[in-house]
Amino acid sequence: MSFSLTMGVYMKIAIDGPASSGKSTIAKLLSKKLKFEYIDTGALYRAITYIINKENIDLQDEYKISNIINSSIFRFDKNKLYMNDICIETEIRKNIISKKVSEVAAQPYIRILINKVIRNTSDNSENIIIDGRDIGTVVLPDANFKIYLDASPKIRAKRRYIELIEKNEPVILEKLEEEIIERDYYDSNRAVDPLKIADDAIIIVTDDMNIGQVVNKIYDLVNNDL
Ligand code: CDP
Repeated sequence: MSFSLTMGVYMKIAIDGPASSGKSTIAKLLSKKLKFEYIDTGALYRAITYIINKENIDLQDEYKISNIINSSIFRFDKNKLYMNDICIETEIRKNIISKKVSEVAAQPYIRILINKVIRNTSDNSENIIIDGRDIGTVVLPDANFKIYLDASPKIRAKRRYIELIEKNEPVILEKLEEEIIERDYYDSNRAVDPLKIADDAIIIVTDDMNIGQVVNKIYDLVNNDL
């Protein structure tokens, strides 16, 4: 599948990586520091999963799901996702959505529609950071910087565990690690636009790095080029 975002954008940063590798945390801070627009593509796949789950829609009901995506307005305001003017940020971050999102994101027709949403959302941006799974390979193949964030499943599970516990979501650490490994497998092995390290990506392994160190590392790379 080919999709490339080229319109009107000057500096493009692609951030990819497996589940809970810190992409959105890093991208948010970086976008603030650089004053770039930020699009969290995982949030869009989560939004569709949330609606499908809430309304109990059959994933094969392409007509109904396409209609919902095409007739909805998605926007990010202060890095929170709004769908038709309703903030769905809390709902889409719940673990039940994390468990179901990979199957939804593997549907080729859904990927085509979400890529259209990404294009519409980013059309007016001059400088942009986009994060996800296929950003360096499919969405922004000509990005100025392609970052691939990684960390061991244990560390990633621990980070997600803390995040969910802080939100009062009851989760079990070992179970979370299993779910993360399973989601990575699913995302990396799907037929369409799988999670893959772009040939020209800069790989950053964050096991021994804190958030500030990762942000500064990418900031320095980009700043030297501005
Ligand atoms: O935050 P976390 O790393 O858990 O995941 P996310 O970035 O919110 O993405 C949720 C899911 O959406 C991923 O597991 C993928 O299945 C899917 N996704 C995708 O297929 N392509 C993207 N560009 C972004 C996310």
